Amino acid sequence: MRVIITGASSGIGTALARYYLHAGVTLGLIARRIEPLRQLAETAAGRVETYAADVRDTAAMQTAAAHFIARHGSPDIVIANAGISVGTMTQIAEDIAAFQDVMDTNVVGMVKTFQPFLGAMRDARRGALVGIASVAGYRGLPGAAAYSASKAAAISYLESLRVELSGSGLRVVTICPGYIETPMTVKNPYPMPFIMSADMAARKIAAIIESGNSFAVTPWQMAVVARLLRIVPNWLFDLALRGAPHKPRRGE
Ligand SMILES: NC(=O)c1ccc[n+]([C@@H]2O[C@H](COP(=O)([O-])OP(=O)(O)OC[C@H]3O[C@@H](n4cnc5c(N)ncnc54)[C@H](OP(=O)(O)O)[C@@H]3O)[C@@H](O)[C@H]2O)c1
Repeated sequence: MRVIITGASSGIGTALARYYLHAGVTLGLIARRIEPLRQLAETAAGRVETYAADVRDTAAMQTAAAHFIARHGSPDIVIANAGISVGTMTQIAEDIAAFQDVMDTNVVGMVKTFQPFLGAMRDARRGALVGIASVAGYRGLPGAAAYSASKAAAISYLESLRVELSGSGLRVVTICPGYIETPMTVKNPYPMPFIMSADMAARKIAAIIESGNSFAVTPWQMAVVARLLRIVPNWLFDLALRGAPHKPRRGE
């Protein structure tokens, strides 16, 4: 089996890489920081390709994909996991750049991850395109406007892609994790219910991909919360979240 993982230098991506390495899979690992990827590769020489690439860089992603396909063939699974989260405030001009970065990485970066693999996967008529979205995409969380908007966009994008690819032999899988212990959440100044370790999240994500489901929230307790979030009326949502601590902004 061949699996591509973006954002493999940290958190959930590293845990997924370790999980699939243990399962004997051939991996293509992508992130801007190459050193953590090389450390993962050292544990399974010959089975891991590492690429220092930015998911916002169309050419770099195409080069990485072309190299992997030439050496190993069409991947079975491509996991668009790379993402960033930073608090933004609309009235602060400097935060516009942060907002743009979040959208470019979390939404357009997902498109740039899938695009260069899609031709080979369509020819092979098999494989799964997996997007790591978030429960934060279910409603607009205060202080995390860019992140919530990016994950809502990712959920809709993945749904469009799933329908577009129906009948092609390819699957599209949307995964919405709740809170996971990673560098992304370590500074969050608010309670994080049902938080799980990155290793546990990786096992659950791999199981969801394996299950053939096209959409899942993990853990199950967050799936209940997510359902409630969808049906709670605005007045109650606003009341519950008014004054809630926001995600730290850049430099905070
Ligand atoms: N932690 C949570 O509670 C949680 C919950 C729901 C969803 N998620 C989602 O899960 C995914 C992984 O998050 P995490 O918690 O594991 O965060 P993390 O520990 O901060 O890891 C993020 C990964 O994304 C990579 N990345 C960021 N920008 C990139 C870019 N422009 N190009 C290539 N790689 C980039 C980083 O690598 P480099 O810096 O080396 O490039 C890093 O490997 C994200 O999409 C996140 O939104 C996380």
